[in-house]
Amino acid sequence: MRKHPLSDRRARHDPAYLRAKAENYAGRAIYKLQEIDRKFRLIRHRGRVLDLGCWPGSWLQYVGERIGDEGFALGIDLDEVEIGLPSNIETRVGDVEKLNCDVLVERYGVFDVVLSDMAPNTTGIREADQWRSEELFLVALKVALAVLRPGGHFAAKVFQGGRFPDLLRAVRAGFEECKPFRPDGTRPGSLEQYVVGKSRRRS
Ligand SMILES: C[S@@+](CC[C@H](N)C(=O)[O-])C[C@H]1O[C@@H](n2cnc3c(N)ncnc32)[C@H](O)[C@@H]1O
Repeated sequence: MRKHPLSDRRARHDPAYLRAKAENYAGRAIYKLQEIDRKFRLIRHRGRVLDLGCWPGSWLQYVGERIGDEGFALGIDLDEVEIGLPSNIETRVGDVEKLNCDVLVERYGVFDVVLSDMAPNTTGIREADQWRSEELFLVALKVALAVLRPGGHFAAKVFQGGRFPDLLRAVRAGFEECKPFRPDGTRPGSLEQYVVGKSRRRS
């Protein structure tokens, strides 16, 4: 079992960590999605959301509040989500890089929003971590382009590296609007960025 982020001793003086713990969220990452969603208005009541790299589940908790009982969300991660979630939120253990999008759409239908907070296990070698994160971003974009309805939205994390302009170009090709965004809750010195693609173009 993986160590839960809210059990990390080093984080005990971090305001977002303390707030997440007090508000019973599974991780401090929730506030980043909240900020992204407030700014870009991605997730709607009754929406259908796919969350890639969803463990420990704080984004799914936020999504659940936004979509309500009549929405649907599916979360996928290499690790099993162990928190309790409403019955209209499903989680699966799996590698997003091996996801068969045709099977996914056959089984669940198309989605309104695809989110990705996927991050590699960091090695400490900056360029290697950036490269791997960019790869995960591209996988998330490929999934989004395959499963989103026209007009649907995408938001994904990436550790900003040399290929960042190419990533923005790739998002622009598939979406009417593309914006990079760095939430206030991002740790100082972090290379983390989110890229938002609004309104999937008709292919
Ligand atoms: C920062 S955490 C996500 C936090 C989550 N958004 C939350 O709010 O609780 C990043 C997650 O990406 C997952 N991940 C990385 N590569 C993946 C892959 N290829 N397929 C599925 N999940 C992956 C990791 O297992 C990790 O749990």
